[in-house]
Amino acid sequence: MDLNSEKYWEHRFQTDWKEKHGSEQTLMHYEALIENLPNYIVDLIKENAYTICDMGCGLGEGVNELQKTFSTSTIFGMDFSQTAVDEANETYGSANVKFIKGDLLNQDQYFDVIVLSHVLEHFKNPHEILESLSQYSKYLIVFVPFREKNMHKEHEFRFVYPSFPTAINNKHLIYFKEVAPIFFAPGDCYMQEQMLVIYADDELSKDYSLANFHSYYDEKRKLDEKIKKLNRDNSKLKKENNHFKSTKAYRFWQFYANLKEKLF
Ligand SMILES: C[S@@+](CC[C@H](N)C(=O)[O-])C[C@H]1O[C@@H](n2cnc3c(N)ncnc32)[C@H](O)[C@@H]1O
Repeated sequence: MDLNSEKYWEHRFQTDWKEKHGSEQTLMHYEALIENLPNYIVDLIKENAYTICDMGCGLGEGVNELQKTFSTSTIFGMDFSQTAVDEANETYGSANVKFIKGDLLNQDQYFDVIVLSHVLEHFKNPHEILESLSQYSKYLIVFVPFREKNMHKEHEFRFVYPSFPTAINNKHLIYFKEVAPIFFAPGDCYMQEQMLVIYADDELSKDYSLANFHSYYDEKRKLDEKIKKLNRDNSKLKKENNHFKSTKAYRFWQFYANLKEKLF
C-alpha cells in the first residue's frame, strides 16, 4: 500500500490510529498551533468571522480546538479518509462545524483561512501544494515538523529554514515561529521541533514585513487605542464645557469679565 495514499490513511483510521494515540497527538498539535498564532491574526479572524478549513483534519480534534477559539467562524474539516470524516462529524459536527470528504490535492473551494497541520511533510513536494492552495484562501496557516533529526517513517519531506520562501504566488510570508518540541508525548507521536508559518495576500500583507511585523501591529494597535481614548476624553470635556456654560456660575463669571474689561 502506498504511503500517504487514501487507502493508507483509511486503513490507519480503521485500525491503529487511536491505539497509537493519534487523537492525543492531534489535540497537542492544535493547542500548540493556536497558542503560537500572533494576536493580530486571531483578532482578524474573530472580527471578520472568517471561514476556516482545516485540511487533513483526521478525526477532527483540531477543528474542535479551532472552534473554541474562533466561535464566530464557520469551520470545515477536510480529509480524504471517509472513516475519519464520518467519525469527526459524529463527534464534533454542528451548525457551524462541518466535516467534508475531499482531497487537498484536488480541491477548488475557497475559504478565508486554510490550516494545514502536520500534513505537508507527508508529501514529496509540499511547495506545489502550497502554490495550489494559495489561490483558494486569504491566509494559509501551516504547521510542520522542523529540522527532523530522525525522519519519521511516514514523512517524505524534511523542512529546514530555506523550505519557507518569502512569497508563494500572490502570498507573502508574514509570520514564522519556531515551536519547541513536545517533551511528553504518548506512543510514536512526533516529539521534535516544529515550525508555524503564515502566508497572506499581497494586499493584506503589504503593511507587514518580517522585519517589522512583530512590533508594527502592536504599536499601531496601541496608538489606535490611545487615539480612541483621547477622542473619548475630548468629547467628555466638550460635554462638561457645554454644561458649565449653562450654569449660573459661568454667566456670573462672564458678566464679571465683561465688567472688568469695561471698567479697567
Ligand atoms: C498526520 S495526519 C495529521 C492530522 C492532524 N491535522 C494533526 O495535526 O494531527 C495527516 C492527515 O492528512 C490526511 N491527508 C493526507 N493526504 C491527504 C489528501 N491528499 N487530502 C486530504 N487529506 C489528506 C490524512 O488522512 C490524515 O488525516
